[in-house]
Amino acid sequence: MALLFEALFCLIVAAVSASLTSDYYQQLISQETAKALTYELPKKNEEFRTGFESDEINDYGEYDVVIVGAGTAGCIVATRLSEIAKISILLIEAGGEENDFNQMPGLWAYHQFSELNWGYYTTPQKYSCLGMNNSQCNMVRAKVIGGGSSINGVMYVRGNYKDYDNWAALGNRGWSYKDVLPFFKKSENSQVDGDKGYHGIGGFWNIEYSLPLSPLYDNFVNGSLETNLTFVDYNGRSQIGVTRLQINTKRGRRQSFGTAFLNNARKRSNLKVVTKALVTKITIDRQSKRATGVEFVTNNKKFRVRARKQVIVSAGTVNTPQLLLLSGIGPRNHLRDLKIPLVADLPVGKNLIDHFILTLIVRSNYTAPNTTLQQQVEQFLNGLGTLTTSTNVHGMSFFNTRNNSAEGPAIQFVIASPVSADASLLQRTQNYNNTIAEMYSKLIQPQNDMVWYVVLLHEKSRGRIWLQSESPIDFPNIDLNLLEKQEDVDVLSEGMEYVYRLLKTEAFKKLNAELLDVPLCDKNSKQFLECFIRNLGGPGYHPCGTAAMGPDPRKFVVDDKLRVHGVGNLRVVDASIFPLGISGNTNAATAMVAEKGADIIKSELK
Ligand SMILES: Cc1cc2nc3c(=O)[nH]c(=O)nc-3n(C[C@H](O)[C@H](O)[C@H](O)COP(=O)(O)OP(=O)(O)OC[C@H]3O[C@@H](n4cnc5c(N)ncnc54)[C@H](O)[C@@H]3O)c2cc1C
Ligand SMILES: *[C@@H]1O[C@H](CO)[C@@H](O)[C@H](O)[C@H]1NC(C)=O
Ligand SMILES: *[C@@H]1O[C@H](CO)[C@@H](O)[C@H](O)[C@H]1NC(C)=O
Ligand SMILES: *[C@@H]1O[C@H](CO)[C@@H](O)[C@H](O)[C@H]1NC(C)=O
Ligand SMILES: *[C@@H]1O[C@H](CO)[C@@H](O)[C@H](O)[C@H]1NC(C)=O
Ligand SMILES: *[C@@H]1O[C@H](CO)[C@@H](O)[C@H](O)[C@H]1NC(C)=O
Ligand SMILES: *[C@@H]1O[C@H](CO)[C@@H](O)[C@H](O)[C@H]1NC(C)=O
Ligand SMILES: *[C@@H]1O[C@H](CO)[C@@H](O)[C@H](O)[C@H]1NC(C)=O
Repeated sequence: MALLFEALFCLIVAAVSASLTSDYYQQLISQETAKALTYELPKKNEEFRTGFESDEINDYGEYDVVIVGAGTAGCIVATRLSEIAKISILLIEAGGEENDFNQMPGLWAYHQFSELNWGYYTTPQKYSCLGMNNSQCNMVRAKVIGGGSSINGVMYVRGNYKDYDNWAALGNRGWSYKDVLPFFKKSENSQVDGDKGYHGIGGFWNIEYSLPLSPLYDNFVNGSLETNLTFVDYNGRSQIGVTRLQINTKRGRRQSFGTAFLNNARKRSNLKVVTKALVTKITIDRQSKRATGVEFVTNNKKFRVRARKQVIVSAGTVNTPQLLLLSGIGPRNHLRDLKIPLVADLPVGKNLIDHFILTLIVRSNYTAPNTTLQQQVEQFLNGLGTLTTSTNVHGMSFFNTRNNSAEGPAIQFVIASPVSADASLLQRTQNYNNTIAEMYSKLIQPQNDMVWYVVLLHEKSRGRIWLQSESPIDFPNIDLNLLEKQEDVDVLSEGMEYVYRLLKTEAFKKLNAELLDVPLCDKNSKQFLECFIRNLGGPGYHPCGTAAMGPDPRKFVVDDKLRVHGVGNLRVVDASIFPLGISGNTNAATAMVAEKGADIIKSELK
């Protein structure tokens, strides 16, 4: 009898707590999505000003290793180095902890209008972003434990073997595809049905397919096969072809590097993590040209901490060059203009690379089921549904548009559906000016429209990061310089021609699919595609290259062991070391760089 009551009691408690959880998530989502539509992004690092301007510097003691930034790379490096018990580590992050809202990948676009984003925009662009306010594109950068992996679209993409062979060909020993493949596999706990020998199982980072598959997935795969692409595991033997998306979630929840990696290490007594702390400078001994520690600001106070062995900068492609420049490492003339004493004359902030994304709206006669928020949350709690994925259709392809056999594929094509974001969120994420925003709000029918993304993978244009002033309270300048080179527009136009071919396949004819007209550009003019591309496309949020790896200090910032040229005890480990862009989203490659970097550093410290 007692047992029966106990069992009954447990059942009731479980049912009540499930519905409490469901209510909690529904409320959280309503609140946070509404907040995102009015949230004002900061224009400076104002919250750190009082501490930065105080005259007193407090002593924070001494560690073996100090790591700047707990993003994708920083979380991995801290986790791996703290495996050696005798090494003491301080990890310093400007943002705060993750929350329940950012666990839902389907709501990723809303995180851009919250304290999880630094708030950057590009400088006014000359060749692209012309339909955005003041020709400035939004330039989202994460400010939270986990960095980009805590706010991104969770797409797991490694790139092409040629990408890494090209890094090696620049003189970087140990970075060819054959050398780096084990480090991709090391992080992974792959649940996908992929090519044998290419996937890791038992690592910290979960990779799975999302469910349930949209009915449109079949149309997409069939249509792509009709255009003569083959079906592939794009993280396996061959990247080029059509494929099912592999994503970084665990039973539908985001697998950031805070969750997947750092949480394993935070209980270790040799690792200390400080959040809401801005590193303002690397301290460097001028005689020996060695990094000795960093200065940082937290709780309205300024601190200095010493690093006995290493300072590792993992602040990401925008903030890593900013911090190096603030510390006297960078182009001589720029530092002279700002009266920052020169430590090492290196091309920091140059070679800024990004992908370029063109967003197309395609209408079909498929109508997405109208699910309530309650249904979506209940699905999410079971690891399924729209809240668990950033793309919904789960399909993607990679292809070439011309003979570019020296590089990986020219175009990545992603299909998502139907438009889940409302028009006012779209305006904010894209920074559309009022004319363009009005055009899209009239155009979009959320339940029938798909979003197709055409991504240019190997842009030839290069941008630059540089300082506005000598103060870390000011944001750095970010000039992506997208589409300066005409060749970039030409390759995107060829990508668009592929889209027209895909629309003509039987699989898409079955859906009556059509690309929506953009009234801004005259469809019958010769310049139609160019008008479309330059006005309405924008950055892929995959910046890299601003502290590039290579042997010659006149052209590169770090060597192939990730040591800053000419400065002792100082390394950069993050996406800024990519010397060339890669054929896909950058999170997995950054994780690989961090695994390999940590491996190199551990062998020195042991
Ligand atoms: C909106 C968006 C969507 C994306 N979608 C995908 C995707 O679907 N798939 C994919 O593979 N990639 C995606 N990416 C890219 C991917 O997330 C990044 O390439 C990756 O996170 C880069 O890692 P990182 O370690 O170089 O830098 P980050 O992850 O940006 O980490 C840098 C960290 O350093 C901290 N920091 C910076 N400066 C300081 C300072 N001075 N003091 C203290 N801390 C500091 C930052 O707050 C941040 O947490 C996306 C990125 C964005 C922004
Ligand atoms: C928005 O951008 C488009 C394209 O460049 C331009 O034609 C239009 O005048 C702009 N509208 C506003 C309000 O700035
Ligand atoms: C896709 O192709 C398969 C095999 O030819 C077929 O069985 C299926 O019905 C097709 N699906 C769609 C949506 O066209
Ligand atoms: C696909 O290949 C077949 C056979 O080689 C060819 O007839 C057809 O035109 C190709 N289709 C496309 C869209 O390129
Ligand atoms: C979908 O549901 C919402 C809220 O219940 C309702 O306002 C809307 O009209 C519905 N749309 C369709 C196409 O059924
Ligand atoms: C493509 O270009 C490479 C050199 O860049 C050349 O070796 C190859 O023969 C070319 N292939 C075709 C089909 O033109
Ligand atoms: C663009 O500028 C206009 C006019 O200043 C403003 O009304 C609009 O909200 C801005 N758009 C965005 C996305 O900030
Ligand atoms: C969609 O359009 C196609 C082609 O015109 C047609 O065969 C099909 O029945 C339509 N489907 C719906 C749901 O209207």
